[in-house]
Amino acid sequence: MGQLRVGVLVSGRGSNLQALLDATASGNVAAEIAVVVSNHAEAYALERAHGRGVPTFVAERSRYASRAAQQRAIAETLVNQDVQLVVLAGYDRILGPEILGRFPMRVLNIHPSLLPAFGGSLRAQAEALDHGVKVSGCTVHFVTGEVDGGPIVLQAVVPVLEDDTVETLAERILRQEHVLLPKAVDLFARGRLVVEGRRVRVV
Ligand code: GRF
Repeated sequence: MGQLRVGVLVSGRGSNLQALLDATASGNVAAEIAVVVSNHAEAYALERAHGRGVPTFVAERSRYASRAAQQRAIAETLVNQDVQLVVLAGYDRILGPEILGRFPMRVLNIHPSLLPAFGGSLRAQAEALDHGVKVSGCTVHFVTGEVDGGPIVLQAVVPVLEDDTVETLAERILRQEHVLLPKAVDLFARGRLVVEGRRVRVV
């Protein structure tokens, strides 16, 4: 049997994509990156994919009549590439039924906070700092219709230090993201994630 085929959706610099590319290439994750999809043509993540010879697909919202049409095009690309797991690695838009309906409980997201704290935000690290929490971290979760609300797969905790800025805190969290996301993909690929309602057991 071949490796699990993963489609990665990105919007920006793609450091989490890089962690996945590195982990799959070195055999630390039992999966291969089949395609990288971006909703921004200039996303640096696309260059990372090209650097590894991974096919890419750009689906800019402005090129489609509706968000639904854009997401249908993305879903078709994923299906055509025989993708079995979709990973959102810094994808900055909410997924609708066009993609989620084709990949039920087969979409993972990484979010830079300890969910459910600071969910639904593109500036979760700044909100954690502003709120004065003493620890924060990152969460990998299954994507359902509810934004940042699907069953939690893995979390990692980092301290919030008194002299932290948004940048230093985000950087500390990001280092954990790069460990956590490949680990979650590997667990999924090995069939080790069992979802029971809101709870995910690692077997
Ligand atoms: C990460 O902080 C991730 O948690 C969030 O978006 C950021 C993406 O960073 N969803 P990168 O593009 O992977 O470097």
